[in-house]
Amino acid sequence: MNSYQTILGIETSCDETAAAVLRKSEKGIEILSNIITSSASLQTTFGGIIPEQAAREQLKAIIPVIQTALKDSRLKIEDLDAIAVTYGPGLIGSLLVGVETAKVLSLIWQKPLIPVNHLIGHFYANWIKPGRSYIADRISKKQNDSRFTIYDKPSFPIIGLLVSGGHTDLVLFTDHNKYQYLGGTRDDAAGECFDKCARLLGLPYPGGPEISKLAEKGDASKIKLPKPMISSGDLDFSFSGLKTSVSQIVNRISQDKNDDRLTVDDKRNLAASIQQTIVEVLTKKTMAAVKKYGVNQVMIAGGVAANSKLSEGLRRSLHVKLFSPSHNILCTDNAAMIAAAGFYSEETIDPLKLQANPNLSL
Ligand code: KG4
Ligand code: ZN
Repeated sequence: MNSYQTILGIETSCDETAAAVLRKSEKGIEILSNIITSSASLQTTFGGIIPEQAAREQLKAIIPVIQTALKDSRLKIEDLDAIAVTYGPGLIGSLLVGVETAKVLSLIWQKPLIPVNHLIGHFYANWIKPGRSYIADRISKKQNDSRFTIYDKPSFPIIGLLVSGGHTDLVLFTDHNKYQYLGGTRDDAAGECFDKCARLLGLPYPGGPEISKLAEKGDASKIKLPKPMISSGDLDFSFSGLKTSVSQIVNRISQDKNDDRLTVDDKRNLAASIQQTIVEVLTKKTMAAVKKYGVNQVMIAGGVAANSKLSEGLRRSLHVKLFSPSHNILCTDNAAMIAAAGFYSEETIDPLKLQANPNLSL
């Protein structure tokens, strides 16, 4: 762990442009500001992300977003100890916007620059203290939620399950900066599967929250879906077959009815079954990892960690302490998690040497 007390985090790996200021004290890691803008609504029109368009929007947003994060934090530039920035993995055009901006700010403000792996950053959302200064409080009014009153930080060893739009990974952390990759998806990520299935159901991007909403009134037992690799004996995943099955079922229902529109009930039942299948596969593999490595803590991270059925399923099955980020805004891409990871990093880099790496792995 380094001795920085105040870090500006910058995150632009996908379609978000995000900046946050976090402070570390004996009370824990607190958010002073947390700004996120996204071109997701633009991307919705196309059913997915168009990389060049995302990067153009990020170029417009990056400076105002950083300015607002600083203003909201009520700190001055002199108060910042360091800048942490995501340098990969992600879309190269998007990453470059954050990385190049952070390099320039590091040089002109004379602040150390901390490179953060986006995937590791996701896990550090679990170290952030829920609190009043946290922008999502104002949006969600969830102050009475128990997750906002308990601040228990993960300790080691711990199994991490990262479930996002681009990744599904199981990782064993034995300490900060010490981890071992245990397994991951061989094809589509869990979030990607949610997104692709949502598209087949005619739902907008991002599909995870849409499927989750639709599933509330659905009956998963009405439609059986395959659970790829659930009994493979390793800690790998595969979700592309699930999407293929959903596509075949959608076609079959449409043909049977001689109508290419699914009824609301068809959609609800399919959504419930998709969600239940993904949750079941993720839970079973996480349980296998817990057993194999004999740990008593698990943390989840990434956009799909916002899915309440996933945390419920894990909590019910695992019988170990489960950590999940205190709010959905800390599950999906954000800069607070990047700054939080910055406090535990042992690495700073010469700004002139930092390069974005779209293929960075764990
Ligand atoms: O972590 P994230 O913001 O971006 C990546 O780094 O990939 O994750 C985005 C993914 C999308 O696939 C989205 O559909 C999924 O997270 N997601 C959800 C939920 N909220 C977001 N999936 C299931 N249930 C949700 N509530
Ligand atoms: Zn992410």
